[in-house]
Amino acid sequence: MKKIAVFASGSGSNFQAIINVIREGLLPAEISLLVCDQPGAFAIERAKANQIPCFIFSAKDYPSKADYETEIIALLKDVDLIVLAGYMRLVGPTLLKEYEGRIVNIHPSLLPAFPGKDAIGQALAAKANWTGVTIHFVDEGMDTGPVIVQERIRIEENETRESLQKKIQLTEHKLYPSILHMLLTQGVVINDEKARTY
Ligand code: GAR
Repeated sequence: MKKIAVFASGSGSNFQAIINVIREGLLPAEISLLVCDQPGAFAIERAKANQIPCFIFSAKDYPSKADYETEIIALLKDVDLIVLAGYMRLVGPTLLKEYEGRIVNIHPSLLPAFPGKDAIGQALAAKANWTGVTIHFVDEGMDTGPVIVQERIRIEENETRESLQKKIQLTEHKLYPSILHMLLTQGVVINDEKARTY
């Protein structure tokens, strides 16, 4: 059974979608750890309700990113894949070195458009006709790294933040589990590199 760790900072609806597909027997994986950098985040309640161990931390309690990432690495116990699900923090060189090519992220835009915080608000402010969801490997940049998949979502003329967020979430909750299934069962070919398996 493949082991994954999920990193989240907020509500954790993507985390929940992953929990659900595992429960339904549709994703052959075990979530061995939730890492959360926001002690009040609802994602922690979801972990507790599903008996998933948590590492909860505040970055300000550590002298540097390298210090908390070193602690995280010790807790990960060599998981197969790290899944960022609304983790609003840059991954540093310490964690990247250890898990290079084995960290994925989901972002609510068609990257490279609208990286960083509030991608939905950015797309609405730019009066874009299209946005979407991107799943990509993580590198040292903010929402950069090789793209695995993108799905387009139309922004209608009367679109509100709420309606767009709902469409994006529906897409994310289907797309992330299916891409995790692909990565954990078949691997993936990116930029003509040799297929990666996990
Ligand atoms: C998701 O929409 C995810 O794509 C986004 O945060 C949200 C978390 O929602 N991630 C980023 O913006 C990363 N830059 P959730 O906590 O309900 O899963």
